[in-house]
Amino acid sequence: MKRINTLYLSTIGKKAIAAITGLVLFGFLIGHVAGNLKVFTGSSADGVPHIDEYGQFLKVVGEPILPPMFALWIARAVLLGSLVLHVWVVAQLAKLSHAARPMKYVRNHKVASSWAARYMMYSGLLILAFVVFHILHFTTGTIQLGEFEHGMIYSNLFNSFSKWPIGLAYISVMVVLGLHLYHGIWSLFQTLGLDNPDRNNALRTFAVVMTVALTIGFIVVPLAFMFGGMLAPVEYAHDLLTEG
Ligand code: HEM
Repeated sequence: MKRINTLYLSTIGKKAIAAITGLVLFGFLIGHVAGNLKVFTGSSADGVPHIDEYGQFLKVVGEPILPPMFALWIARAVLLGSLVLHVWVVAQLAKLSHAARPMKYVRNHKVASSWAARYMMYSGLLILAFVVFHILHFTTGTIQLGEFEHGMIYSNLFNSFSKWPIGLAYISVMVVLGLHLYHGIWSLFQTLGLDNPDRNNALRTFAVVMTVALTIGFIVVPLAFMFGGMLAPVEYAHDLLTEG
């Protein structure tokens, strides 16, 4: 009994960690999409694109109380910690649920649940690989797929996404991410015990609306650059940005 209790509690604990870290990561994505959409809001009077100003703001947020980059590094640490915990705990839960699975399964359920579990694993691995590639591409500029300059976010996006294979690759990953998030949100509802036949339709609709909105928000940025709907970047003095 004690063993079952400990197992149950540890499963509950893991589910809680998966849910909290999942929410932190989802919150980051909402913030990220909102920041990305600033490519459509134009530039300030001195020609600095709003998205570049926003990127600069994130570096100095908290000043003068905090030194520059401090808040950004704290956010990065929280994000990385959430990501590592999320992947670890979700993998543990998948192993536990596999071990506890009864042999007598309605055939369709078995096929559907193993398909979803496998999809979550492969898409999760793809998203992890994407995040590493993406940081090397747009944050550090280590992988140069177009002319790159630190802080010149609009121009970096323009130079990469005006090459359609890069835009298409980003769009494809965003579709995979959308499905991963849809399934993740749905599992979160089940984890929290919110699912119930009276509510399931509303919960599914909520999960679909959230993930479709987020996915479209991400996809419209590369699409707009790919199809030439965006103004070419204008040269501006870099010190306009560093002065904030
Ligand atoms: C079309 C979709 C996306 C676009 C256009 C985009 C664009 C960008 C750009 C331009 C930066 C660099 C910002 C800067 O220099 O300050 C960045 C950073 C980043 N992006 Fe994305 N992103 C997209 C999707 C994603 C997704 C889906 C994730 C996560 C799953 C993600 C995670 C990150 C992370 C972790 C950083 C580094 C933030 C930092 O530590 O400063 N991005 N993104």
